Amino acid sequence: MQTILVTGGTGYIGSHTAVELIEKGYHVVIVDNLLNSQIEVLDGIEAITGKRPAFEEFDLCDRQKTAGLFRKYSIDAIIHFAARKAVGESVSMPLEYYHNNLESLIVLMENMKANKVSSMVFSSSCTVYGQPDELPVTEKAPTKKALSPYGYTKQIAEDIIQDTLYAHPELKSIALRYFNPIGAHPSALIGELPLGVPQNLVPFVTQTAAGVREKLRVFGNDYDTPDGSAIRDYIYVCDLAKAHVVAVKRMLEGKNKSNYEMFNLGTGTGSSVLEIIHAFEEATGQKINYEIVDRREGDIEKVWADTRLANEELGWKADTPLETTLLTAWQWEKRIRNIH
Ligand code: UD1
Repeated sequence: MQTILVTGGTGYIGSHTAVELIEKGYHVVIVDNLLNSQIEVLDGIEAITGKRPAFEEFDLCDRQKTAGLFRKYSIDAIIHFAARKAVGESVSMPLEYYHNNLESLIVLMENMKANKVSSMVFSSSCTVYGQPDELPVTEKAPTKKALSPYGYTKQIAEDIIQDTLYAHPELKSIALRYFNPIGAHPSALIGELPLGVPQNLVPFVTQTAAGVREKLRVFGNDYDTPDGSAIRDYIYVCDLAKAHVVAVKRMLEGKNKSNYEMFNLGTGTGSSVLEIIHAFEEATGQKINYEIVDRREGDIEKVWADTRLANEELGWKADTPLETTLLTAWQWEKRIRNIH
């Protein structure tokens, strides 16, 4: 049985990926500092899969503990999710973001090198494209000036990985650039757990439907889009999770075409904020109280993925319909709020 180290494995995407890995027969070791996730997520993973991942609680910036982790487990590959991810927070705490997101990657790669662990999947973001000149955006599109320290950490991290692989060709990595992950596992046993007021659209929608928030604010209806609200490519988190398993397997089986590859993970279809609200209402029968307000600073107008490379090379496709995905988000919200 191969062992996959999942950093940030109690987080939103990490926990869904841990489930997919276990279901495909991998042994999972999670390391997480629980800064933005809860230990109970392990119960959810166990309830779904019947297996409890090994768990280590510490910060990957801690060199000694990370070195100890590599001594304790025989790791075959890494999926590196662990990072701070709140855009607004990164503007007010840039040093924490640069320190945490980059130092943890550096320490991890030093240990890959020292322990001959050759493969790492890296959690990147479509934020590296900024507002692309052409849509759908392909992996060849240039990266644009990042709009936040968080965005920069993803760009710089990709550069750190590329430079390291150039110098150490025995190592390999696949960077996965996520569009907007949403939804929860169909069991509703794991899902997204935003701390405080959600910054992302779908958790705000589900909390509004649950009565936790009074009103959703739609940030802008004067964009150059059919209904005036901004467009994103919303991808089901379980579809996204599956792509990580495919990427790990690709490297472990030596099927990667170069030692650094990157793929867009999206559906290829854009949806506007208003379309999301209406699709949610349609899928769940819940009315969403909303109002149009000014644009949010730092938001781009529209982005959606060209998914051909991922579809063809990885043989993977995000095919869960938007309504099904939104329903899983609602089922999860209902479960954590005890709504029947
Ligand atoms: C944001 C980040 C992105 C990051 C991702 C992580 C920005 C500019 N981008 O993406 O870098 O990788 O989160 O999940 O912050 N919206 C509303 N009302 C709300 C919340 C959102 O109208 O209460 C709108 C936004 O204006 C946007 C869309 O919904 O048009 C999606 O927003 P969000 O879920 O925050 O994701 P992004 O901004 O695309």
